[in-house]
Amino acid sequence: MGESNTKVIVNSWNEWDPLKHVIVGRADGCCIPPSEPASDPKVPKDSDMRGMHGPRSKESVDKANAQLDYLANLLQRQGVRVDRPEPIDFNQVIATPDWQHGSMFGCQPPRDVILTVGSEMLEASMSYRSRWFEYLCYRPLLQHYYESDPNMRHEAAPKPRLTERSYKLDYLSEDISMDERLDMVAVKNFVTTEEEPLFDAADVLRFGKDLVVQHGFTTNLKGINWLARHFPNHRVHPVNFPGDPYPIHIDATFTPLRPGLIINNPERRLPDDQRSFFERNGWEILDAARPAHNEPPPLCYSSVWLSMNVLMVDEKTCCAEASEVHQLDQLDRLGFNVLPVPFRDAYPFGGGLHCATTDVYREGRCENYFLNCKIEDRLA
Ligand code: ALA
Repeated sequence: MGESNTKVIVNSWNEWDPLKHVIVGRADGCCIPPSEPASDPKVPKDSDMRGMHGPRSKESVDKANAQLDYLANLLQRQGVRVDRPEPIDFNQVIATPDWQHGSMFGCQPPRDVILTVGSEMLEASMSYRSRWFEYLCYRPLLQHYYESDPNMRHEAAPKPRLTERSYKLDYLSEDISMDERLDMVAVKNFVTTEEEPLFDAADVLRFGKDLVVQHGFTTNLKGINWLARHFPNHRVHPVNFPGDPYPIHIDATFTPLRPGLIINNPERRLPDDQRSFFERNGWEILDAARPAHNEPPPLCYSSVWLSMNVLMVDEKTCCAEASEVHQLDQLDRLGFNVLPVPFRDAYPFGGGLHCATTDVYREGRCENYFLNCKIEDRLA
């Protein structure tokens, strides 16, 4: 048959193989959604996000889009094909038979929504009501890949009900201190319950045959178990980072740079028992460099640790935020060719350079990077 029948569009097994095709988010129409049970515990008490909702200002959208476009152009100059999602009207009331919510969020962090594993692009269940419909922005692209690539698997996790049973409604009913909050996180007491499988795609890191998944506010154990059943040829490893008071998305905490090398947020170290799995397989886990900033930009959900939210173009080339001088220096010393990208105006729209992208195609196959893997390392 013709060439179109043999064309591979979707293929990506890890975070560092040569990137050839990617989706970069857009800031158009992005809203700060009204609060909901999942989002309240994530917004620090003294944050300027408290009580805010509604569309973001045109000025901030334009500035974010300028940086997203800069990233897209830079990747294109590196030979990467770039696609963009299609925004919908996010500033409208949404509802399912179970709930109603005042607005949606946006389509800036594609990494949160779409998980690419090999030839599969999987729409995550998501765990916020405001983000329940976000997959619609990616449907035109995913449909196109599906029609162009006969081996592409377009999958969607079961849509969660997200009723009040999915959240601990009294999670932060008391005015708790940061130490108390960290104690809760250390014993894996998170805002989401085990009512139903929940996961955001940005809680997953891909290491070939192994998927490393953060258990936290946005991904529960049932979500991790669902992933393990869905990917029966993979080993799925739940991890958690007790130092993170707001454990949402793994990619400002634990960042693989190339086979054998990971940087870990020094305030959110992987516990020793989980660390040993990487170390006995010859992986080095280094403390990431300190962020260059003391504060995130205004109206930002994320922490200053977006400094380590880098995007690997291949295992020697890395996009990192242009003002993060310490992170740039660390990457340089580790031997990477670093491409600085101004991105702080895009941070409030959902994160850094890794968040703002999702893989469509990286060269390479599914490799086993963890030969010394015991049976108990695999989640049944
Ligand atoms: N939750 C991540 C952080 O802000 C993105 O550090």
